[in-house]
Amino acid sequence: MDIANFEFNALHLPSPTEEIFDECWNSKGIQVFVKRDDLIHPIISGNKWRKLKNYLQTFSFSTHSGLLSFGGAYSNHLYALAYAGHSLGIPTVGIIRGEELTIDSNAYLAQMNAWGMQLHFISRTAYRDKPIPTAFEKYTVIAEGGFGELAIQGMGNLVDELPTCDLIYTAVGTGATAIGIAKYTDKPVMGILTLHNRSEIGANKIPANLDIEDAYVFGKYAKQNDELDLFCAKFYQKHGIPIEPIYTGRMFYALMEHIKNGHIAPNSKLVALHTGGVK
Ligand SMILES: Cc1ncc(COP(=O)(O)O)c(C=O)c1O
Repeated sequence: MDIANFEFNALHLPSPTEEIFDECWNSKGIQVFVKRDDLIHPIISGNKWRKLKNYLQTFSFSTHSGLLSFGGAYSNHLYALAYAGHSLGIPTVGIIRGEELTIDSNAYLAQMNAWGMQLHFISRTAYRDKPIPTAFEKYTVIAEGGFGELAIQGMGNLVDELPTCDLIYTAVGTGATAIGIAKYTDKPVMGILTLHNRSEIGANKIPANLDIEDAYVFGKYAKQNDELDLFCAKFYQKHGIPIEPIYTGRMFYALMEHIKNGHIAPNSKLVALHTGGVK
């Protein structure tokens, strides 16, 4: 299947935008809209299609053997890449952090393997250097988490789909999504860090309209937190939109705190990007 056909037939694009209501913001005349990129596809959901599309397209015009990327045992990015490769007939390789792991270590690894992704498990020390096994030197390499110029460019289409607003919220992992959105809009963008990597993101070209908030990491990346888990459960109960604590939970929590603390001007119109991750 070619990429344009896949996008047209298998993906829900443009994704919908819906308004959510809460006394906390409605009392201040603030409106909150959720851009439901989580509904693009059950697997290549959220920012995954936006970030991968240009890599898939560029690969399809190249003479490379496939696509190779890096990640942990639960990487949303590798999971989406494995599925995209399977759907589009593109060979994929995942270099996985943790030599003690096997394809049976968890259901995600087993599923990625079943989709045809070749999984290579390497030690955490070796992983730091992101080595490319010689057998895969002819593969197009996508950085960990999908970060890269092509991923950033993928946010152009997303920005075209957004309603007019005063401020855009998104979760930040590698920063590709936030940087990309800020690059294609002249509105202010608030990126909520999910790990303490502000200095790494700062090493990239950060557009002047992107603000990075680091007060809602909750300790460290993906660390379980009862308050966040409860927040996500209540959010789902109230708005009927599933969120998870690692990315969108932290982002919506921060958004709500910003409103409560008076950081958002009354009568503002906000758009929060649902980057998916609920797999
Ligand atoms: C669900 C989800 N939301 C947000 C992000 C952060 O996106 P980025 O790495 O582009 O900052 C990720 C990581 O890729 C993710 O899996």
